[in-house]
Amino acid sequence: MCTVLRLGDPRLRQSASPVPEEWFGGSQLTALLTDLRDTMAARDGAGLAAPQIGILRRVVIYGITSNPRYPDASPIPETVLINPRLTPVGTATQLGWEGCLSVPGLRGQVRRWQALHIAWRDPSGEEREAVVDGFHARVVQHECDHLDGVLFPDRLESPTAFGFEQELEEAGPLEPASTPGLKKAGDWI
Ligand code: NI
Repeated sequence: MCTVLRLGDPRLRQSASPVPEEWFGGSQLTALLTDLRDTMAARDGAGLAAPQIGILRRVVIYGITSNPRYPDASPIPETVLINPRLTPVGTATQLGWEGCLSVPGLRGQVRRWQALHIAWRDPSGEEREAVVDGFHARVVQHECDHLDGVLFPDRLESPTAFGFEQELEEAGPLEPASTPGLKKAGDWI
């Protein structure tokens, strides 16, 4: 397990480099994926990008298993995106609360594309593609922002829709319905 860098660390603001061809199928990539997987699990995260553990390569991992704390959460199988390219599908957007392991305790409302085409390489080097939507699309956009040095507070819908989780919950704006099915979704990506 690795330390997750927090907002203020300049490494979170750098643009990550593509994974080079010679990494596919090799031990360097396997070791990075093990670090990402272990760190995400230890922090109860739904997603983690390599720059968050100080590795400036275009790799993200995410997944949601069924969790008794979040009985309505739709599971997302564990997915590794290497050198991902995102293209919005349609023009619809969704507004929802996000948080980040690199911005602990804080949550903010962010507008994201509702649906997304993703093209990427898997760890063996295979070209893959998929269309995702809803919370899955939100996680992918949040994680891939990390590869360009962008954190969710950069994308706030409004500076007033931002604050500490406990205060937002007590004051009311942070409703379970704001992220369908997932009360605490924003905490872990
Ligand atoms: Ni994050």
